[in-house]
Amino acid sequence: MSKQPMIMNHPLVQHKISLMRNKHTGTKEFKELVSELATLLCYEATRDLPLEEIEIETPVAIAKTKVLAGRKLALVPILRAGLGMVDGMLTLLPAAKVGHIGMYRNEETLEPVEYYCKLPEDIAERDVIVLDPMLATGGSACDAITQIKKRGARTIKFICIIAAPEGLAKLQAQHPDVDIYVGSLDEKLNENGYIVPGLGDAGDRIFGTK
Ligand code: PRP
Ligand code: URA
Repeated sequence: MSKQPMIMNHPLVQHKISLMRNKHTGTKEFKELVSELATLLCYEATRDLPLEEIEIETPVAIAKTKVLAGRKLALVPILRAGLGMVDGMLTLLPAAKVGHIGMYRNEETLEPVEYYCKLPEDIAERDVIVLDPMLATGGSACDAITQIKKRGARTIKFICIIAAPEGLAKLQAQHPDVDIYVGSLDEKLNENGYIVPGLGDAGDRIFGTK
């Protein structure tokens, strides 16, 4: 059985996504918002990281206190748009290694095409977090995760800013083991495979290519 996705309804997340949706929001602000949202979603997606107890001396007393148990993490943005989320994630997870997987959608068939994959050598020992702002048909995320699993990854989370119901259902069906974190679950896909209301083409808006 697939896991329930975590749909974030935090006010800061909703506010920032609304700013991103606005077609008048320019590249600089859009990029900053993607990064800030990645940090907020990262906070939720790391809720289950294991802790260990250590002893430290505060200026007042000796204390038994908790720190992260040194779990090895890898972030894997799906190029291009996922790149916009990396710095925001590294703000909270500075020791994570970063792999890259390049996918683009064939604009006619909407089928994903992989063109690049470079992951940390020890990917099998790392908890992997796959990043893409948009989950539309779900083709890119599903194929990216399949490729990452083929290279040995065992525990995978997926974070996106906006998802369409169609893409979410596909990802849950194809990868029921993956924990999914979503900033906003939108209404539907349109006939061109764009998320409605969505925010348009995330890659173009991050990199100013259109
Ligand atoms: C966008 C987005 C996802 C994909 C989602 O990338 O960043 O990777 O579309 O669509 P899907 O769920 O239907 O596969 P795009 O193909 O536009 O490539 P780009 O990031 O290089 O612009
Ligand atoms: N990719 C995007 O960037 N936006 C969409 O709405 C769908 C796919």
